Amino acid sequence: MNFNYEENEKIMLEFIEDCRRQIKDKFFSEDKITNEEIRKHREEMIDIKLNHTMRVAEDVAKMSMKMNLNIDFTKIVKVSALLHDIARFNQAVWADSFNDRNCAQFNGMMHAEYGYHLLYVNNKFKDFQIPKNYQFAISQAVKYHQQKSLSGDLSIHFENKKELNPEVLTGYETLNNSEKIIVATLVQMVRDVDMLDILYQHLTNEFPVIRPFVTYDVCHDHLSQISKHFGISEAEIMAYNKLDNDDISNMETIKIPTIHMDKSKLAVPQDIRDAFLHNIDLDLVTLQKRRDWTFITGMWWRLIHFINNINFTSNLELVKEKELLDKIYEMYPDEYKPLVEDIFTFTKEVVINASLKINQGSEFIKENTGELISEKTKKKGY
Ligand SMILES: [Fe+2]
Repeated sequence: MNFNYEENEKIMLEFIEDCRRQIKDKFFSEDKITNEEIRKHREEMIDIKLNHTMRVAEDVAKMSMKMNLNIDFTKIVKVSALLHDIARFNQAVWADSFNDRNCAQFNGMMHAEYGYHLLYVNNKFKDFQIPKNYQFAISQAVKYHQQKSLSGDLSIHFENKKELNPEVLTGYETLNNSEKIIVATLVQMVRDVDMLDILYQHLTNEFPVIRPFVTYDVCHDHLSQISKHFGISEAEIMAYNKLDNDDISNMETIKIPTIHMDKSKLAVPQDIRDAFLHNIDLDLVTLQKRRDWTFITGMWWRLIHFINNINFTSNLELVKEKELLDKIYEMYPDEYKPLVEDIFTFTKEVVINASLKINQGSEFIKENTGELISEKTKKKGY
């Protein structure tokens, strides 16, 4: 089969247009106002993931060429990037947010796993023009791009770029050693570029550093208690949630607008703060279940998690050279800066520098920086 990236990109764009059509059909009704709002929001979700997908595909191909990897491997890694978030487009049809937990159709799966399921198990691959012997390897890159950290076979590194020869791919699910190296490299490259792109999305404001509201678990609280806790009037919360009265007893969650909120309520809880300032990568799903979870803790998590999970030294150097973290920090309005200042300084001055020092001269980030970091942590008094 002739394997051409452009052809597959066209097919992907048609699939995305189809998701857009489904959104239009789903939210077309007499009840124009509410539906129009939801439709617009869902279409924006599609736009965000479309831009993300295209950038990640382009950037991963650039990375592959910069590393002098062969043309066929470059095409495979580019198609893996093109497909890595395929489930996000279904998610925009089904749900109002990209929180995988809230998407009933995923049936407990995360979006990466669902993407794998869709492509490989349900054979969505048949719509694409991808040689059969490449499909399993690509499906693994989709499946594992969201993995918390890479271990075992997914953490192996190629010794020689000649090992990345797609000819060795058989398409069988039991991978031989040559295939394992290709799959691990696909996963590592897609993950790196995917994580970096989320940082860029903060800069373009596609992923704003400040969210308009915090979703709070009601947990049998009265509106008056919630109002007092966040320092916002009951009337404002009611208006924001379009409530006719103050009875919230049958609501699971309530939206608290951030604009007039007492900003100290967004401060990262002490236990989470201590963990992150000792470079401990906490589990996102567990954090998101906490009642005190906010988008500020989300940024703390992203910094520690992403920086510690970058696989290629050149990408970590890129973060430093492009001053990405300083630029994101500057996106915060002044009243929010104290909430994130410590984690930005710690990540820049301790985590990145320790890792670059240890991995200098190596293509991959291999060494455990834990000891160096705890030494520096002590010195800096975090
Ligand atoms: Fe993803």
